[in-house]
Amino acid sequence: MRVKVAEHAALFYRDGTVIWDDYLHHRQFAISETAELLCRKFARFADVDELLAPLAEADRVALRKVLDELVEAGVLVVEGSPRHEEELRLLRGWADWGASARYFHFASRTLGDAPYLGADEHDAALEAKLSTVPPPPPFRSLGGERVPLPARPARPSWAREGLFDVLLARRTTREFGDGPLPLGRVGELLAVLAAPSPVRPRIGRSGTVFKTTPSGGGRHPVEVYVHARSVEGLAPGWYHYDGSAHVLERIGPVWTAEEMSEAAGDQEWVGRAPLVLAYTAVLERTRWRYDTSRAYRVVQMDVGHLSQTAYLVATALGFGIGFTAALRDELVELALGCDAYHEVVLGMSALGPLPE
Ligand SMILES: Cc1cc2nc3c(=O)[nH]c(=O)nc-3n(C[C@H](O)[C@H](O)[C@H](O)COP(=O)(O)O)c2cc1C
Repeated sequence: MRVKVAEHAALFYRDGTVIWDDYLHHRQFAISETAELLCRKFARFADVDELLAPLAEADRVALRKVLDELVEAGVLVVEGSPRHEEELRLLRGWADWGASARYFHFASRTLGDAPYLGADEHDAALEAKLSTVPPPPPFRSLGGERVPLPARPARPSWAREGLFDVLLARRTTREFGDGPLPLGRVGELLAVLAAPSPVRPRIGRSGTVFKTTPSGGGRHPVEVYVHARSVEGLAPGWYHYDGSAHVLERIGPVWTAEEMSEAAGDQEWVGRAPLVLAYTAVLERTRWRYDTSRAYRVVQMDVGHLSQTAYLVATALGFGIGFTAALRDELVELALGCDAYHEVVLGMSALGPLPE
């Protein structure tokens, strides 16, 4: 019998034990030190009998027992077995995306027996949680210098554009005119993206908030940051938009076009943009309500929805806009001062006047 370690799993250490995490079948269990060391011997297909042959009878019997258990548990796959076939299909399907993409996807993929609470049950669980774990605030203020934005009209002039016309006009723009963007219009865009909805401004007891964009569980984990290069009346640099107060909070660093382009995976069109919005997610907001790994996907979906709102509003305002997911997250985190383990960078939109 030739066996090797299965590739649809990851090993990690917890409380002094090694955990085998079979993300494909959602099974986690501790493995012994002997099992861990044996796995090393089967990094590639190897014949069990050949490997055990030089050992003393007692050791052979003991190790054979461990190996049989590892095969039974799916830690080792037998060459040519249905499990081996399944693994080959998986590896072909995910090819160059590699182990980490497979891990993330399949660990957060729901299986047929995934437990879901009914709405009433979930509400009751959250109600109980409210008294022990207070929900994180849905808005944030960084403190420091604040730049008030011009007052918003109750109904902005661009709101009269027909939705269908806007949808047809929407496209990714990677060239921008030079002229500065008016601060008032930038403020209107930010308010539509990240302020509470004027028709449903109430913040729920559990921190649920409503905006123009949908968000999983109404958690709105996405924070919007602004890099101004050419915005009328606004000093260049990075800001955080506080949607509850409708103000920009100065963070500081002014990025050169080269620095912006480097952070955007060397895309020069992003470096040249008069305005860049960076989106991050405060994981705690979504995690407070949803404690399964699948919620990580919800966060990714949230930013997709928000970006589409940005696309449509920018188009209605007559701005050019393009979204980018190709980022050097770490550079953005450093500029914004966000802790990557709690607030993750998701993407950026580059905006500017349409070219002449
Ligand atoms: C999730 C996502 C990620 C994207 N990332 C990039 C990017 O990194 N660079 C880029 O130039 N365009 C990016 N785009 C824009 C797409 O290339 C663009 O939407 C596509 O070419 C279709 O063009 P359209 O938006 O004009 O319809 C992204 C779009 C989405 C939705």
